[in-house]
Amino acid sequence: MPQLTVKNRPVEFKLDPQTPLLWALREAANLTGTKYGCGVGDCSACMVLVDGEALRSCLITLAESEGRFVTTIEGVSRDRSHPVQQALVAEQAIQCGFCTPGIVIAAASLLKKNINPSKSQIEEAIPNLCRCGVYPRLVRAIQRAGRVMRREETISAAPAPGISTEDAALTVPAMKAD
Ligand code: FES
Ligand code: FES
Repeated sequence: MPQLTVKNRPVEFKLDPQTPLLWALREAANLTGTKYGCGVGDCSACMVLVDGEALRSCLITLAESEGRFVTTIEGVSRDRSHPVQQALVAEQAIQCGFCTPGIVIAAASLLKKNINPSKSQIEEAIPNLCRCGVYPRLVRAIQRAGRVMRREETISAAPAPGISTEDAALTVPAMKAD
């Protein structure tokens, strides 16, 4: 059975190793913050960090994830305090919200590699589709998050929504955690 680390926990999925990681995360691990969009690699709504790289989880199988370190949107921060999350709220760069988790993952991965990205570098690194067209705001928010990470600026934390991130993974019938 495929074994990997999800949100810092070693887990073993009792699933076919050819199951897409996206399905395992959402349907077995109940980590529904990762969204199921196109299912074929076009929208990036399903992005997760795999060994620190933003990857589309609909395109990789559990077998390909074996032994790797997976971080979903639930694991990016415990209290939605990642600078990207704060900047997206501050710049009102969230509309439907469905595509936002994948955007946060892609932006967090970018800023980890390049803390001061240009507009074109952001556009290249964020392939996520957003039908409502918040792209200019996304660029502003990601650059603002970079300034926060460079300690040139602070953002007041957005009010907590009153929902525990842990509520996203209460029962995990197909996953064995140590
Ligand atoms: S659901 Fe994976 S890229 Fe669209
Ligand atoms: S924020 Fe979801 S489609 Fe734009």
